[in-house]
Amino acid sequence: MDRWAGRVALVTGASVGIGAAICRELVKHGMIVIGCARNDKQIEALSVELAGQAGSLVAFHCDLNDSDQIETLFATVREQFGGIDVCVNNAGLYFTGSLLNGDVEKWRTILNVNVLAVAHCAQLAIRSMRDRNVDEGQVINICSLSGHRVPPNPDVHFYAASKYAMTALTEGLRQELAAEPPTKIRVAQISPGLVQTEIAARAHNEPGRVMELGVEAKNIADAVLYILSTPPELQVHDILLRPTAQRT
Ligand SMILES: NC(=O)c1ccc[n+]([C@@H]2O[C@H](COP(=O)([O-])OP(=O)(O)OC[C@H]3O[C@@H](n4cnc5c(N)ncnc54)[C@H](OP(=O)(O)O)[C@@H]3O)[C@@H](O)[C@H]2O)c1
Repeated sequence: MDRWAGRVALVTGASVGIGAAICRELVKHGMIVIGCARNDKQIEALSVELAGQAGSLVAFHCDLNDSDQIETLFATVREQFGGIDVCVNNAGLYFTGSLLNGDVEKWRTILNVNVLAVAHCAQLAIRSMRDRNVDEGQVINICSLSGHRVPPNPDVHFYAASKYAMTALTEGLRQELAAEPPTKIRVAQISPGLVQTEIAARAHNEPGRVMELGVEAKNIADAVLYILSTPPELQVHDILLRPTAQRT
């Protein structure tokens, strides 16, 4: 990880859960981390907690549902930090509701955050890496096992559709980057099963309650560190991981 110290990472959805855990690890390893979410006060609190570590965490407000806010975020980061070397597309959500009875406006939000914002941030991050001719750049998409199989739970069927789309985005980006050798920019994704976060509680309108089932968010952050630690000529494509006891 030493080669990433002092370089800039963007982590979306940094306020809680997996995103906050990724920020913690990247800051410990000396990166300048731009954490964004709607609840930027929570990121500021994490930043204070991490003061004294090798790197630093800077909080930005950004609602990924709004593409103008994404453009503003990247423009501000460029002005203040020069650009982005690592882009972790972590923010994601779902709402309860089946395909037969779900709310179309909620699906639109899922598509905006889980798919469109991911493609938008990846495009702007890669543009930033190329403009500065970086030695090495990395995009990491936090996908899901639901980007590989459809769980028998109607509440996550539309979410699974969004995560299958992410799987396609990751492979599409890989192909486009590989088509322009020698590319110094890699793309990878991580596909977790259950993780102890509040994603399900939020879907049920109970924010703040963390699921007891699942692996720890730090396990996902460790997978991010693994991807960044691999040699530049090695493309880690996707890491699937689940709790040992998870059946689906
Ligand atoms: N937990 C699991 O079991 C699990 C399993 C597989 C994959 N994942 C994936 O892991 C990623 C992180 O999920 P998590 O479990 O850590 O969930 P979480 O605890 O609910 O956190 C979700 C994060 O996404 C952010 N977010 C949601 N909507 C946003 C918006 N419109 N604009 C900006 N940020 C937004 C939230 O920040 P604000 O609310 O502050 O905006 C929060 O920081 C997601 O992509 C999820 O699909 C999770």
